[in-house]
Amino acid sequence: MDKVIEVTELALRDAHQSLMATRMALEDMLPALADLDAAGFWSVECWGGATYDSCIRFLNEDPWERLRTFRKGMPNTRLQMLLRGQNLLGYRHYEDGVVDRFVEKSAENGMDVFRVFDALNDLRNLQRPIQAVRRTGKHAQGTICYTTSPLHTVQAFVDMAAGLVDMGCDSICIKDMAALLKPKPAYDLVSGIKQRCGPNMPVHVHVHATTGVTLVSLMKAIEAGADVVDTAVSSLSLGPGHNPTESLVEMLEGTGFITRLNRERLGRVRDHFARIRPKYHAFLSNIVGVDTDIFQSQIPGGMISNMESQLKQQGAAHRMKEVLEEVPRVRAMAGFPPLVTPSSQIVGSQAVFNVMMGSYKVLTGEFADLMLGYYGETIGPRDPEVMKLAEEKAKKPLITQRPADLLKPEWQELRESALALPGCQSCDEDVLTYAMFPQVAPNFFLHRKEGPKNVGSDPAKNEAGQAAPLRGPVKYAVTFAGKTHDVTVAPL
Ligand code: CO
Repeated sequence: MDKVIEVTELALRDAHQSLMATRMALEDMLPALADLDAAGFWSVECWGGATYDSCIRFLNEDPWERLRTFRKGMPNTRLQMLLRGQNLLGYRHYEDGVVDRFVEKSAENGMDVFRVFDALNDLRNLQRPIQAVRRTGKHAQGTICYTTSPLHTVQAFVDMAAGLVDMGCDSICIKDMAALLKPKPAYDLVSGIKQRCGPNMPVHVHVHATTGVTLVSLMKAIEAGADVVDTAVSSLSLGPGHNPTESLVEMLEGTGFITRLNRERLGRVRDHFARIRPKYHAFLSNIVGVDTDIFQSQIPGGMISNMESQLKQQGAAHRMKEVLEEVPRVRAMAGFPPLVTPSSQIVGSQAVFNVMMGSYKVLTGEFADLMLGYYGETIGPRDPEVMKLAEEKAKKPLITQRPADLLKPEWQELRESALALPGCQSCDEDVLTYAMFPQVAPNFFLHRKEGPKNVGSDPAKNEAGQAAPLRGPVKYAVTFAGKTHDVTVAPL
């Protein structure tokens, strides 16, 4: 008998985050929900990552309302989200009480599967959110951010998987955000985890398609015992996105593996997204086809467009090649972190500064924090001279404890600040929106009742033509008493 390979569909989260700067509005997802729900997916990833940010920053959509709508529209399918560990869906570490509350509210509003990762693969940053998920009785998926470096061996990743299992995770995910996972390591990694953690520990594999090799990696992972793989319906696939769901179904024919997906339903989902895709033309990624340079530079697609716009702002677009060569050096200095939000932005920005101003003449605050342990531990040692420089410039000491241990309870204060904002409702969901995005939330609360924006004609298009969040000063229009003012704010 064929072994059933389960599938997580990414159309509603990672696919449009990777292909169209996370801009897809709920109204364009609604017509597909019934078919997605009936197609036979293990789960539908539909929330978290950059979608929360995009909802309130660009779409004037309440992310919690979006989640409740998914719950109603897909009653038979597990809803899945991507959670950035102790950073939740924001860009800093939150105190444990905020982490607990975020997870509780997400579960209460309908979330089933929490895929939890830390950008540095520091297990200490995963402990609390995973405990919080376990308390709700929902599915806690521990995540390994896959990357390559002299220190990232199959053995090191298998050890990490064992640590996640010890924490009580219900499953392990290998998350390959930059399409670096080649077929051979995919096989070795999955078999290594299965051997170490037992054949009954489910292994999920998430790969992007950017480098062109990863559909084969999925096949090898399946042969090695992977239980669930992530794909996106063909009309929202490939490029910096993912392998097509329909291709996976066809590929498995005669191999002894089979999905339980319904081709007719998939066809309808495909047709729906093919119809709405042109509406998001302005946001579509410039990367089409395949890029194998990523194997050398390690730089995921979204990060390149981010650095391009940074260089352009400084009139130095022609120095991109130097920056691309600088990124691996900065990464080595920083102890070989995986490049994923927010470490990709931190390393990328520092590489831009090094090229523009000279090596480590200017340190970004975030890079200093990374060097000083404020994001957690890296797999490799960090450069002692740059660490010393970071201590001097940032005027703070090196830390070795779990970063969130330094934080004082902050819920009450966040609650008071949020409730003072016009339009903020007295519910934990709104407080969490404020906690996550204190610069964007006030404007969102003020305009929420006006309803979703017509994204097709959004003139702000390529200003953030990448999935990654803005880290520099943010400009937005604020309307007070009928007058619109342009406001620029620097991140906290
Ligand atoms: Co992804």
